[in-house]
Amino acid sequence: MSRVAFLVLCACALTSCAGHQQSAVDPAGVQADRIAHLWWFFFCVLIAIFLAVMAFTLWTLTRRHRGIEQEPLESKHKPSEATESRLTRTVSGLVIATVLVLLVLLVSSITTGKNISELRDKQHGLIIETTGNQWWWQFRYLNDDSNEILITANEIHIPVGRPVMIRGMSQDVIHSFWVPNLHGKRDLIPSRITEEWIEADHPGAYRGQCAEYCGLQHAHMVFWVIAEPPEKFKHWFDSQLQPAATPTDPDKLRGQQVFLKNACVFCHAIRGTTAAAQNGPDLTHFGSRRTIAAGTLPNTPGNLGGWIVDPQNVKPGNHMATIAVNSEDLQPLIDYLESLK
Ligand code: CUA
Repeated sequence: MSRVAFLVLCACALTSCAGHQQSAVDPAGVQADRIAHLWWFFFCVLIAIFLAVMAFTLWTLTRRHRGIEQEPLESKHKPSEATESRLTRTVSGLVIATVLVLLVLLVSSITTGKNISELRDKQHGLIIETTGNQWWWQFRYLNDDSNEILITANEIHIPVGRPVMIRGMSQDVIHSFWVPNLHGKRDLIPSRITEEWIEADHPGAYRGQCAEYCGLQHAHMVFWVIAEPPEKFKHWFDSQLQPAATPTDPDKLRGQQVFLKNACVFCHAIRGTTAAAQNGPDLTHFGSRRTIAAGTLPNTPGNLGGWIVDPQNVKPGNHMATIAVNSEDLQPLIDYLESLK
């Protein structure tokens, strides 16, 4: 019994039962639902086989060895013809059964994959261009109208019930887009475009992460997918399209000047200001995101301060430059960035 319990534990660990926010067996979308069904089917078949093998092993260990006792002594190294043919029948029967089981698993896996790949809607779907970077995510909501193109980082919102195409690419090495509650993994490959369609059935915050080893901070390449009702999504989208408001109070205004005078502008953009670089995350609505440094830390003023002062201490190896901000300039800079809702 303890072996069964152990197996169940292993299976849970492998499918990331880390909680409802990131779990392949707690589907929140139609694609993930089919994958979860396939997973449970595999699990049940394999558990049944495991139990059958264990039962058979127990049976052979406990039964009386009449077969051996009945064999004449001289045939010790050569089984009788009857034994030989019985063994041949048993072994070939089990080989056929194994092949059949593998075939069933293969066919169900291919069928699920094919069914999922048909869940697409190029006409009504939302297209989000997703670029993997060491070690953060850039998201661009594509639109025929260039005024409706939205660039953001490490957090996307999607409307419930509408198909969304993740148009994946990479700026450096191979990454992999994975939101277990919504779909399986899809690699983001340099100089290639990959596609994955997701669709959330009910609102929620789903944690995604890079699923392809991509260097030192692979584990800190996290993003969030917030699924919300269409009206709420529209509201979020429209507010994200707005440029950042120019601060009115002197503290935040000073923070904005600190940002614009420092090396920040070589990597980051804040729409509505002169900062327009796209080498790092777009910070136009930075204050509205739940985490900083691609899911490394919650987005709080304290964490942001620590990140600005010494990014290499927070996330060693990352490409954020350490800039020398005067101690009296730090608080206004933090206040300004956090005010970018
Ligand atoms: Cu990107 Cu691992």
